[in-house]
Amino acid sequence: MTITFHLNGEEVVLEDLDPSATLLDFLREERGLTGTKEGCNEGDCGACTVMVTDRSGSKPLNSCILFLPQLNGKSIRTVEGAADADGTMHPVQEAMISHHGSQCGFCTPGFVMSMVTAHKNGATDHDVQLAGNLCRCTGYAPIVRAAEAAANQPVPQWITKEPLPQATEAANIPQSSDALAQLYAAKPEARLVAGATDLGLWVTKGLRDLGEMIFLDGCDDLKQITLTDQEIRLGAMVDMNRMREAIAPLHPSYGEMIRRFASQQVRAAATLGGNIANGSPIGDNPPALIALGARLHLRQGDSRRDIAIEDFFIDYGKQDRRPGEFVEALSIPRQPDRLRVYKLSKRFDQDISAVLGAFNVTVSGGLVTAARIAFGGLAATPKRANALEAALTGQPWNDASVTTAMAALAQDFTPLSDMRASAEYRLETAKNMLARYFDDLNGNSHSVLEVQA
Ligand SMILES: Cc1cc2nc3c(=O)[nH]c(=O)nc-3n(C[C@H](O)[C@H](O)[C@H](O)COP(=O)(O)OP(=O)(O)OC[C@H]3O[C@@H](n4cnc5c(N)ncnc54)[C@H](O)[C@@H]3O)c2cc1C
Ligand code: FES
Ligand code: FES
Repeated sequence: MTITFHLNGEEVVLEDLDPSATLLDFLREERGLTGTKEGCNEGDCGACTVMVTDRSGSKPLNSCILFLPQLNGKSIRTVEGAADADGTMHPVQEAMISHHGSQCGFCTPGFVMSMVTAHKNGATDHDVQLAGNLCRCTGYAPIVRAAEAAANQPVPQWITKEPLPQATEAANIPQSSDALAQLYAAKPEARLVAGATDLGLWVTKGLRDLGEMIFLDGCDDLKQITLTDQEIRLGAMVDMNRMREAIAPLHPSYGEMIRRFASQQVRAAATLGGNIANGSPIGDNPPALIALGARLHLRQGDSRRDIAIEDFFIDYGKQDRRPGEFVEALSIPRQPDRLRVYKLSKRFDQDISAVLGAFNVTVSGGLVTAARIAFGGLAATPKRANALEAALTGQPWNDASVTTAMAALAQDFTPLSDMRASAEYRLETAKNMLARYFDDLNGNSHSVLEVQA
């Protein structure tokens, strides 16, 4: 496979490359660009952050879990390219110095590249932009002060001018969903690569051989978002940051949950299709999508089918997906917003859920007329709480019936204990989430962000 990209303004053509080689290894080992650091090598610390630009704009990405073929036709800027060729520093570099934003300096290149990208994009929600960068010694206050100071400075012209190279044609990098459908039908044993935020770790941590890989990133038609009066349709390759922008106006609680999905760097890569297809029992989107009654659109060659998303998850590691079939899109019916999504994790930001509950209950004339409730983290798959829904439906929407209905959760789930939470804790918090939902719908919201002295 041959690919072409720009690296700090210079064209790079790589022939016969190993498709599972990561950008971080290439930068450090092949190019000697050791400013980009290796911390965790699993997308958690942000020390390896680089800015990647394509036709849709610039994103901060973790280079440790980015396979080289994902960069075909794109432009990469590492910390070595943050300053101008004549040594003139970028405003965020100046600000990091004047605000004492660096001590040991190991995290600094990653912070700088997250800040360079946020600065270019005009993003000033600095805590959100920097939640994926870990600093162990300076502390965040000086770094955030530096980001604030740099925000008023213009974007330097060497950063605004980022011409894109022509992508090289490569058999395993299809440029449309039609081409993908043909290729995958012919090679059903191949591994589809979307954002690689799961698959990257299979290589860097699992040391697994992914076999033949098909890269979906060239399929721009899988990145579309369409909003009609009936539904919102999201292509499988919509990343979490774009998904958040589309969902937040319709279902703010869901939008807020996505803000807590991993970090800016991971959200910029992680796709909706990957989050569903991996079948994880703790993926954050599936419970919310089940509660909203979403339908999944699957495609195999020229044939298509759509199923209720809850039917996709059959058992642990087993999904209703046929050989050569891929997730093409997902549609969510438009509806009044009664959805609340509660994510419980050990850390507020950048953490995988221990339990995630999604609630969508319709109340009419004081009675529950419909209920769609789903949880992640309580079973081998994301799953609807059928017994709980039945216990609520037809009952008055009041404290007493909500408390009685909670007991039904024990019929729905027999959770496991693991490092994230014990079985008892999981079930107890699921009950508490229902109580929180009851309060929320009655206009009495609770949020850890609004704790008052
Ligand atoms: C640091 C870190 C934090 C994370 N935090 C969270 C979190 O808070 N919440 C959460 O839910 N997840 C989290 N994840 C997991 C991961 O980011 C998500 O599961 C993500 O949505 C996966 O999408 P992807 O595009 O990166 O998938 P990939 O890694 O590219 O693929 C994942 C799987 O899906 C398959 N696949 C991808 N696209 C398709 C398709 N269109 N059709 C069929 N199969 C397909 C692939 O073959 C592969 O088996 C985190 C990961 C990291 C590294
Ligand atoms: S090295 Fe930690 S995110 Fe890449
Ligand atoms: S300056 Fe040492 S880890 Fe951030």
